[in-house]
Amino acid sequence: MSIAIVPTRAFADQRPGTAGLRKRVAVFRQPNYLENFVQSVFDAVPELRGGSIVVGGDGRFWNREAIRTLLCIAAANGVVRASVACGGLLSTPAAAMEIRARGATGGFLLTASHNPGGPEGDFGIKFNIATGGQASESLCERIHARSREIHRYKLLENASEIELDELGQHQLGAMSVEIFDPVPAYADVLERLFDFERIRGALRAGLRVHFDALNAVAGPYAEEILVRRLGVPATSVVHSKPLPDFGGRHPDPNPHSCAALVALAGRADAPDLLAATDGDGDRNMIIGKGVLVSPGDSLAILVANAHRIPGYADGLKGVARSMPTSRALDRVAAKRGIPCYETPTGWRFFCNLLEAGRISLCGEESFGTSSDHAREKDGLWAVLFWLDLLAVTGLSVRELLERHWAEFGRDYFMREDWQVPDANLGKSVLDGAVAALPGFAGRQCGALVIESADNFAYTDPVDGSLSRNQGLRVLFVGGARGVLRASGTDTSGVTLRFYLERHAAPDSDHGQLPAQALAEVAAAMHELTRVRELTGLVGPRSVV
Ligand code: G1P
Ligand code: ZN
Repeated sequence: MSIAIVPTRAFADQRPGTAGLRKRVAVFRQPNYLENFVQSVFDAVPELRGGSIVVGGDGRFWNREAIRTLLCIAAANGVVRASVACGGLLSTPAAAMEIRARGATGGFLLTASHNPGGPEGDFGIKFNIATGGQASESLCERIHARSREIHRYKLLENASEIELDELGQHQLGAMSVEIFDPVPAYADVLERLFDFERIRGALRAGLRVHFDALNAVAGPYAEEILVRRLGVPATSVVHSKPLPDFGGRHPDPNPHSCAALVALAGRADAPDLLAATDGDGDRNMIIGKGVLVSPGDSLAILVANAHRIPGYADGLKGVARSMPTSRALDRVAAKRGIPCYETPTGWRFFCNLLEAGRISLCGEESFGTSSDHAREKDGLWAVLFWLDLLAVTGLSVRELLERHWAEFGRDYFMREDWQVPDANLGKSVLDGAVAALPGFAGRQCGALVIESADNFAYTDPVDGSLSRNQGLRVLFVGGARGVLRASGTDTSGVTLRFYLERHAAPDSDHGQLPAQALAEVAAAMHELTRVRELTGLVGPRSVV
């Protein structure tokens, strides 16, 4: 075994996005591509020399190979200890908790989240810091800068293979490697937050749950928590074995990817709660009998009912949502008298607020919710929260929703994703709309009139950093809102996301379909941004 200094040439496309570096598998498998990025992290974070790391991934194709390479680079860069999840399988929320609990210097998460897997699919890697949370924008910038000038990486050569499935202590050069089972510690955290005895009682009394792990990383955690600790029948936890290609399906908990779950929810004998999580276990989708809970409503309902849950019974310090997420949360926060923050898209903005003790719960419209128990979003946490709410209230998902709307009104919400193959063309739509912003106020768009509009900028209340160009916000007279931003997680082209929203007062009709309720807002946003004319597309690729 020896440490080699391997010459390399920089790649121009290694800027980490909203959720780390995410590319097609074929891109990652180019010689030196992964090596360059990992070495760039070590160069940008000198504390890693002499430090310790947590390593794991969502189990997608190439996970094990990538972990082995990463470990050989870590050993060559002077890492003293690596804690690697057994089989290389580590959910994103569990990783965040482990990094923090072990006092590690940081962690490497090998995941492309909800993107498809397999050899033709996507791969990804992100570096999380000692808090467990995502790297700051400035650290991502440093990593990116380093990746553009890198000309060598360090590698431990001729090392014997670490058996990733063998629990216990191993040695890789001077670096010790512990293979650990991340499931029990994660389950313990959730068991402290929620009333497992109460949930067991409700299940015994007939409450029925159905959980779909989409053959992704949350499966083993769901088996432990739902089946072994809570007593949910094993047949009610499906697709719990993680597969490298997620069984050929898209590991994304949304109504399109989970059509079978939605169909099951529509049956007369549907379970009371149906749920799914994504590739790396940080997203969640909640469905009741015949009713899908929109993520913005889910966040607002969790906050409104948090006092019923042991882990949050002492009250909430504050709450936060990403800018495009519906303002249902704001109404609850205002009524309860708790601070509510509006942040740019991406979990890292919540991390600062969580770390400073300013918020207890937070969430995004993209099926992500979590609390101060972790520095990442947490899919199973949200499922357990809903389960405990059903147990403590004795209400159905639909009743919880309807009661919430009767008290706070309903915030109809919809997101359209327009997939533009030519990234420059896609960006030109957003740039054009931003350039036209000064003329927006007072303008008539179809049936609506614009009250005000801006390009969202955010000054972090904790560290004072300023993030500009976070999306076009258009407020219409009467309170409806339209938002347009470009995705930061695309692996090709660009996805333009339109977020459409309208509030219906507590005493009004809450039974419309979102597409009906939001038709005017959608038409106004399309007209304003000239999306069809500029892209030649006839409509969005998907609507959630
Ligand atoms: C998407 C979601 C965003 C989430 C991110 C990482 O980012 O919209 O809410 O934080 O994935 O899971 P986007 O592609 O919109 O930049
Ligand atoms: Zn994810």
